[in-house]
Amino acid sequence: MIRNFVLSASLVLCSSAVWAGSYADASDAPDTAMPAHEVDIEAAKKIFQKSCRGCHGNKAQGAASYPKINDLEPEYMADKLERYRAGEKFGPNSILMIQQAKKLSDEDIANLSVYVATAFDK
Ligand code: HEC
Repeated sequence: MIRNFVLSASLVLCSSAVWAGSYADASDAPDTAMPAHEVDIEAAKKIFQKSCRGCHGNKAQGAASYPKINDLEPEYMADKLERYRAGEKFGPNSILMIQQAKKLSDEDIANLSVYVATAFDK
């Protein structure tokens, strides 16, 4: 719990620095796929527990045909979720993910991508 708190506090600090930076000098702002907003770890945790861990495992470690996702870069994961949400197929079981991703907002995707990459001991 303490570890989680420290983690989310540092993520919020870190993301608000990015946010402030992109407004301070918008012309030099990096063109990233991730929207600049404060990462809401608690919101992501709720979605993960309700909608993701049933397939991907308690620590997103994967099982059988459900891939491990706790080692993905947040940018990669956000891109993948957006593409599933748009209905893109990658493998034989993509339909399972397309159904999941359709329920996610842009913010949910950004939050989940950071949460899943940072929340678990691997
Ligand atoms: C019904 C089971 C199921 C649920 C629930 C589910 N997934 Fe998946 N997920 C899969 C399967 C199966 C794949 C592989 C799909 C394919 O073949 O493209 C996958 C793939 C992924 C990938 C791509 C992995 C890679 O290496 O590219 C990501 C990211 C992902 N899931 C995230 C999530 C998140 C976040 C949630 C919760 C919102 C979630 N999944 C909920 C079954 C599920």
